[in-house]
Amino acid sequence: MWTGMLETSPREASLAGSFGEVIENKRIIVCVGSGGVGKTTTAASFAIEAARRGKHALVLTIDPAKRLATSLGLEGLGHEVQLVARERLEAIGECQPGGSLAAMMLDQKQAFDEMVENYATDAEAVKRIFENPLYQQIAGTLTGAQEYAALTKLHAFDKSGEYDIIVVDTPPTSHALDFLDAPKKLSQAIDSPAIEMFRKMQKGGSLSAIGKTGSYVFKMLAKFVGSQFIEDIALFFNEFNEILGGFKERADEVMTLLHRDDVSFVIVTSPEAMAVSEALFFHERLLETDMPFAGFAVNKVHTSMPVDLTRDGLVEELGKLESIKGLGLQATCLRMGAETLLDAHSELERVARTDRIAIQRLKNAAPKTIRTEVPFFRDDVHHIESLGRLRGFLFG
Ligand SMILES: Nc1ncnc2c1ncn2[C@@H]1O[C@H](COP(=O)(O)OP(=O)(O)OP(=O)(O)O)[C@@H](O)[C@H]1O
Ligand SMILES: [Mg+2]
Repeated sequence: MWTGMLETSPREASLAGSFGEVIENKRIIVCVGSGGVGKTTTAASFAIEAARRGKHALVLTIDPAKRLATSLGLEGLGHEVQLVARERLEAIGECQPGGSLAAMMLDQKQAFDEMVENYATDAEAVKRIFENPLYQQIAGTLTGAQEYAALTKLHAFDKSGEYDIIVVDTPPTSHALDFLDAPKKLSQAIDSPAIEMFRKMQKGGSLSAIGKTGSYVFKMLAKFVGSQFIEDIALFFNEFNEILGGFKERADEVMTLLHRDDVSFVIVTSPEAMAVSEALFFHERLLETDMPFAGFAVNKVHTSMPVDLTRDGLVEELGKLESIKGLGLQATCLRMGAETLLDAHSELERVARTDRIAIQRLKNAAPKTIRTEVPFFRDDVHHIESLGRLRGFLFG
């Protein structure tokens, strides 16, 4: 269904009217958003829904809460694909025949190792790289490495053609934009002038290969960390250079993939002001870079529940409750209790009003795109039942 968004962006204009239609029409769904807003939970829900609609779905998840993995029967979820038992899906509701849900928890280090193995031509060099302490450090902590690993894994699964739909969860970055910048950042980091100097030094066989200033800097550095360490770094970067070519090529391919028409970004956000600002920023960035945007999944929304009770009215109602009667409380106690309850309620109403204002900001920025609202549940979303409830709000 066309939503007539031509006034904002041709890419948004081609969107479906619900996340259900997004699942029907897209092959890759990327859930992005700031930390803790519900990306992993939403990504799991999208994949579950796709499987229930009869698709072979895969969710690439990052560090899911243990209890979420447990409730899907994926306790030992590691860096390999695992199938979610069909009964688990059926526990949520009716499932069309033929669907399946596979899940994989991305392990950044392992994804990096796989890339090194894929791109290196010499098995001995792979061994040396893996043994190099510097590599251990880099594979785990380099800026954007986790995002990059997620994207390359996505690329590989997409190419394999094994799944009808792949849902990608993204890392808990404080800044959702990190995800889009990851491939560029990573190549820039590895390609920095300092690293280039290490490479030249190792290739040239001596410090003179990097000029006067360079060799002075390295001599000083060697005083602090030892010349063996400097040599280890230089050797590492030279061996890594070959793999780097593959890294960069892959980064370009991944960027092309993310622009495809069968890809869709879902921006997950809470109604918290900072998260909404970030979501809006990310939305702008998607439009600027002509990336396909599906809509906003607003999660953890406080809903307004107005009550028409005065303190005395509440005292009267409380007094009627059997459980309260049994306590034999004095009238002053009941009045104090009623006041506390009314205060808590008005605080919740205030939060609900603030949430509405924040959601209105999203509405103003993209009035015709999909925008679902999932309430802030009393408990974490870790059970099949709560995933089922969440599903109702996301897909109707
Ligand atoms: N609608 C909701 N109501 C209540 N709790 C929720 C809701 N959605 C998610 N949660 C809970 O909030 C926590 C964070 O959710 P989740 O892990 O999906 O967020 P995330 O964006 O992936 O976080 P991170 O950025 O750390 O990866 C989890 O404990 C989850 O169960
Ligand atoms: Mg997460």
